Amino acid sequence: MAHTPVLLKEVLEYLDPKPGQFIIDGTVNRGGHTTAILKKMMPSGKYLAVDLDENILENTKSEINSKFQIPNSTFEIVWQNDNYANIPEILKRKEMGKADGLLVDLGFSSAQIENSNRGFSFQKNEPLDMRYDIVQKLMAHDVVNKYSEKELADIIWKFGEERFSRRIAKKIIEERAKEPIVNTFQLVEVIKMAVPRSYEKGRIHPATRTFQALRIFVNDELGNLEKLLKNLDFILNRDGRAVIISFHSLEDRIVKNYFKEMKQSKKVELLTKKPITATEEEIRLNPRSRSAKLRAIKII
Ligand SMILES: C[S@@+](CC[C@H](N)C(=O)[O-])C[C@H]1O[C@@H](n2cnc3c(N)ncnc32)[C@H](O)[C@@H]1O
Repeated sequence: MAHTPVLLKEVLEYLDPKPGQFIIDGTVNRGGHTTAILKKMMPSGKYLAVDLDENILENTKSEINSKFQIPNSTFEIVWQNDNYANIPEILKRKEMGKADGLLVDLGFSSAQIENSNRGFSFQKNEPLDMRYDIVQKLMAHDVVNKYSEKELADIIWKFGEERFSRRIAKKIIEERAKEPIVNTFQLVEVIKMAVPRSYEKGRIHPATRTFQALRIFVNDELGNLEKLLKNLDFILNRDGRAVIISFHSLEDRIVKNYFKEMKQSKKVELLTKKPITATEEEIRLNPRSRSAKLRAIKII
């Protein structure tokens, strides 16, 4: 299944890519946003496309390179399998200079749910892996089977805001003593045993928050986001724009607070006073866009 880019019109509006510029996509995935941005930039410019997921990046690279092969164009696309938190180092190493725009569309994609076999979704029975970076050592099953009850409860509380975190952690410890919890459906069953039957009055699946927490922890998602935001000065030129799309309140809070601090120290202009969210029409066509929040700044 193709990944439908969220808030595409809004990304183009706030990033405002033009021919001749240097733009970075820190989370290129299947290239939904990238394709639209490249169309606005052709026939000249520079592009850095980054993703931690090597498999996805390789597929996207060959597709986009063939789509955008324009004879005599002066366009350069650099593909980098890396963490967006390392963008300042990548720019230095590749002597690319500072950029005019940066897009980061956080989290995981439908392509990863459909094809990765890495247990991102509680609706498919797959190994409890959850890494974006397949070279990384720590996987979700390590956390579930090796961490202490307190560590597990803290992770589920902090990154999932799950109020039954203690009960879930306790049940995990009980059940893993009988047999290791190595796949998603095993964990779903354990969570269901731990929470009340009336969990959230059926509004969300009982495993939603625990899965989110494990994914954020395994990939250090909040740490990476903070590192990126702290280094925006090293990434963007004057007048350079950063557009960040987040999918839950933990991420959005970090983005909001960093942008506010940067505005107070007169480093940036806020292009979005309030987060931009999807229209009803977009939510109907792409339910994933329901929780998307876009914030943008311009370096001054
Ligand atoms: C929501 S998808 C991006 C979708 C993309 N904008 C599109 O339109 O196709 C998020 C992507 O970010 C990648 N990712 C997650 N954390 C990352 C990190 N720290 N550095 C680089 N890529 C990361 C994931 O592998 C995934 O491919």
